[in-house]
Amino acid sequence: MTPSNPIRIAPSLLAADFLHLGDEIAAVERGGADRLHLDVMDGVFVPNITFGMPVIRAARKAATLPLEAHLMITAPDRYIEAVAEAGADTILIQIEAATHLDRALNQIKQAGKRAGLVLNPATPLDSLSEIVELLDVLLLMTVNPGFGGQRLIGYTLEKVRRARELLNRRNPECDLEVDGGIDVNTIASAAAAGANVFVAGTAVFAAQGGAASGIAALLEAARSAR
Ligand code: DX5
Ligand code: ZN
Repeated sequence: MTPSNPIRIAPSLLAADFLHLGDEIAAVERGGADRLHLDVMDGVFVPNITFGMPVIRAARKAATLPLEAHLMITAPDRYIEAVAEAGADTILIQIEAATHLDRALNQIKQAGKRAGLVLNPATPLDSLSEIVELLDVLLLMTVNPGFGGQRLIGYTLEKVRRARELLNRRNPECDLEVDGGIDVNTIASAAAAGANVFVAGTAVFAAQGGAASGIAALLEAARSAR
């Protein structure tokens, strides 16, 4: 890990109170969040439906921090332009859903956005061997995508460690992000394995002392692992 990879927390709005989204966003911005993570689910790629462009647009209006859109949808290339226009700064697509991966990643870059690729727990790192250099963000799912509040799957941490080695060799500026089951107990192992961006929904928005204290606790636990 290099100093150019500081620990960053990306609160997942999936766990926020949607009736008071503006207040929730303000709270995590004050609390030291680095970016906001928006989970778009289509009910086909994953067994759950969340939200689309109207919520991304609303978050864009409310937020000063960058937004990252995590597209858990089939045929993501059909929506890249719309997601970019709605206000996402980073667009994360699932490798399992992108048939023409090279084209989709270049579409994101052509829209002027950071290109992110997401791998499910069982998807091997080998599957990105040809395109590592194209990535601004590599997101490894530490749960099966679809729902917040799940437990981190232990074997994914070994994959994080190998992904860090791969990025160090071929794309050291690329963020290595983890998503799912990240809390004050699991974040240290993920940080020690080499992740530098941590998505957290439940551990931020359902934190006992409020969202800001949730972020502070995560940062402290992650930094202690370095
Ligand atoms: C899961 C989503 C996650 C989710 C994380 O499919 O991609 O971003 O919101 O929630 P927690 O942090 O509660 O596991
Ligand atoms: Zn996500």
